[in-house]
Amino acid sequence: MDKFYHIVTYGCQMNVHESEKIAGILSELGYVSCDSMEKADIVVFNTCCIRENAENHAYGNIGMLKKLKAAKRDMIIAVGGCLTQQMNKADVLHEKFPYVDIIFGTHNLNKLKDFVIEKQHRKKSIIKIDECDGSVVEGDNPLRTSYPNAWVNITYGCNNFCSYCIVPYVRGRERSRKSENILAEVKSLVDEGYKEITLLGQNVNSYANGTDDIPFYKLLEKVAAIDGKFRLRFMTSHPKDFSEELAKTIADNPKICHCLHLPVQSGSDRILNAMNRRYTTADYLRKVDILKKYVPDCAITTDLIVGFPGETDEDFEDTLNLVKKVDFSSAFTFVYSKREGTKAAEMDCQIPEEVSKKRIMQLVDLVNEQTRNHSQKFVGTTTEILCEGVDEKKGLYLGRNEYGRMAYFKSDKDVVGQFLNVKVESANGVSLYGEVVK
Ligand code: SAH
Ligand code: SF4
Ligand code: F3S
Repeated sequence: MDKFYHIVTYGCQMNVHESEKIAGILSELGYVSCDSMEKADIVVFNTCCIRENAENHAYGNIGMLKKLKAAKRDMIIAVGGCLTQQMNKADVLHEKFPYVDIIFGTHNLNKLKDFVIEKQHRKKSIIKIDECDGSVVEGDNPLRTSYPNAWVNITYGCNNFCSYCIVPYVRGRERSRKSENILAEVKSLVDEGYKEITLLGQNVNSYANGTDDIPFYKLLEKVAAIDGKFRLRFMTSHPKDFSEELAKTIADNPKICHCLHLPVQSGSDRILNAMNRRYTTADYLRKVDILKKYVPDCAITTDLIVGFPGETDEDFEDTLNLVKKVDFSSAFTFVYSKREGTKAAEMDCQIPEEVSKKRIMQLVDLVNEQTRNHSQKFVGTTTEILCEGVDEKKGLYLGRNEYGRMAYFKSDKDVVGQFLNVKVESANGVSLYGEVVK
């Protein structure tokens, strides 16, 4: 009889891809994917701790499994990801949820197979968190779940230590995969029929820094030179490392999507400095100008934080003004969340919740208006969509254009994985609706 696994993923794209690696490991052990915890023989929580609410979601869901575990003693519960890697968190988790069988970290995910085998033969919980040893694991065998899209890690970890951010503490120092390994992986994905490749790293622009491997823009060129029709995306770009060469590379290689995620975080130089972002708003706007010079139609998306310690009304006004100036295609907006162990957690003047709430509502309104206007511009045009799947509720196929806009359309036959021209008839907020044309 089949044994089943169920994975719950929190956090960023990197974690989503890591869950594909976990799925690969579990399928090597003979487990088959299933869509409910009740049916599963092993449940894995791949956690995130970027903000407090990400942490609380995980706690809530792990807590809910207590009853199920009591009724189904053989079920294995494993918790991994960024949350477990935080200082002392594995012990806290074990105390809070003693029925969790395996607690592993971000640096020993590749050992999960051994942990599961060991757990099948012993009663006691396995709690194993490794420190980052600076190595790059190759040869993992992810079970990809997002055809026609595929994610490929190019760097792991982060050296930037933005003062609010927990990532450098839970993902270790930045290290890059060898370009030959990345190129071989992308080539085989394209040969297998994947149509959109996204290169992943916390700060892709600093790929291979301090090594004798090729810089990021050269890597992009080489990936884009791989035969076959596919789209190429990458994230995330740190503004301080965004270069003119990169803008040129995007312009010169048609496979690279005209869409760049360039998180600005704040529009106030004082706050950017306190955030340790190492650029000013003028630097940021200059980089946007360079990008627009080479790639005039490039969609720019961003991340914004409100309520960073010490943020005044004027600082927040500066953020609104910068958002107006750049006119982002879309943006993720966050309320600052205090992360124990980071520099910002020790800063005076933490902003009261009601102030942050007011600010985020104002910012969301502005960002939504820009997003709607950008969507509206596609109405009446024909745009190339890569079909990604079906929205069962709407009874429509869906896919994105190179600018990252989601479009919905009808089709009589299965068109997942195909490039289609869609004539956009209407736009509803962020999404487009249209009809396939020849
Ligand atoms: N490496 C990427 C993204 C990392 S996390 C980058 O540097 O852009 C994604 C986003 O989460 C960040 O861009 C930031 O806007 C947000 N974020 C990170 N730490 C946060 C915190 N403590 N509180 C609120 N938002 C945070
Ligand atoms: Fe966090 Fe900054 Fe690194 Fe991004 S660049 S992961 S925000 S420390
Ligand atoms: Fe990603 Fe969350 Fe970790 S955003 S890197 S899963 S802390």
